[in-house]
Amino acid sequence: MIRKTFVPVVCAISLLVAACSGSQKNSASPDMPSLKTVFKDDFAIGTALNAEQIEEKDPKAAVLVPQQFNMATPENIMKAEVIHPQWGTYNFDLADKMIEYGKKHNIKINGHTLIWHSQLPAFARQIQSVDSFKTFFTDHINTVAGRYSGKIFSWDVVNEALNEDGTMRKSVFLNKMGDNFVTEAFRLAAAASPNTELYYNDYNNEQPAKRAGCIALIKKVQAAGVRIDGVGIQGHWHVGKVPLKDIEESILQYSALGLKVMFTELDIEVLPRNFQGADVNQRMKSDPSLNPYVNGLPDSVQQQLAKDYQALFNLFLKHKDKITRVTFWGVNDGQSWLNGWPVRGRTNYPLLFDRQFMPKPAFYKVIEAKKDFANTKKGF
Ligand code: XIL
Repeated sequence: MIRKTFVPVVCAISLLVAACSGSQKNSASPDMPSLKTVFKDDFAIGTALNAEQIEEKDPKAAVLVPQQFNMATPENIMKAEVIHPQWGTYNFDLADKMIEYGKKHNIKINGHTLIWHSQLPAFARQIQSVDSFKTFFTDHINTVAGRYSGKIFSWDVVNEALNEDGTMRKSVFLNKMGDNFVTEAFRLAAAASPNTELYYNDYNNEQPAKRAGCIALIKKVQAAGVRIDGVGIQGHWHVGKVPLKDIEESILQYSALGLKVMFTELDIEVLPRNFQGADVNQRMKSDPSLNPYVNGLPDSVQQQLAKDYQALFNLFLKHKDKITRVTFWGVNDGQSWLNGWPVRGRTNYPLLFDRQFMPKPAFYKVIEAKKDFANTKKGF
């Protein structure tokens, strides 16, 4: 008697479990773990948002983003070429929408970026006199940082001021204002937006030479008595080659300066290229051999990507007392900038969600990193 009812019940339960775990693995269902919840006691989890996502025109992103992320960075719309297209003319439409989006979904906004040599409006490059350039620089920071004071959580005040060897990049800012422009930018931002966290942000600044330059730059700002709260390591890395040792050393060294450390533009690309880093002006010629995974990612690469993400999050958790945020540079693979850079028209797979907004094996490995960390803490 007992046996007869027990067997079907057990079967029904196992079917249910299989169905549930299946749905967890294969769809962005409500029972899918949430990154922001899983890491809530560790660090904030952010994503870059494009204009369509900010305006909630992308229905799947509109559901997934508030479910998974508690911070967001505008991918492009707060850059000078968009927000300050002409001398004295500002276009705040999308930036204002981003602030509203953040309020609506309880997502903090990380402003990106006040001073950067790329994606500058054409007029800024054409300014001849040093005085006019300084006026542009000052007005830009005062106006943009001032408008969002009290509304925005943080600013990348200066982006990518360094060369790979740690010297100052020969940008229009350096040419016109000398290497004090970085300190000046922080001074102006601190005055215009007193309660906003202020960061220096760069790619490859986990690499020893560039890191040394970055530390020197930060010390200079600090020595001038000017506030700087954190350093962003962009984190554009390559599958199978994530520089874990350099990253760990950088977390320790930057944090020893009294700064918050964050990973601001994380993605791990899987396609070939012949240089490191993320200089948006550096490009490679298109060639079919550079686009090998148009019809899908081979399992071996998928597994390596998952392993890399797991190792990274193991490291982030180990140093969670020093790390305040991890931001992915995009919501899903189909929207990643790495489909268009440094080679146009490729099919890349650098993020945790696939083109259908489904969590990838890497997503589950990131969640596993947290479970392993929690178990180690409990002494398992
Ligand atoms: C990229 C955007 O993702 C692209 O859409 C745009 O065409 C170029 O810039 N470092 C940065 C980011 O600080 O602003 C860059 O974003 C990627 C590299």
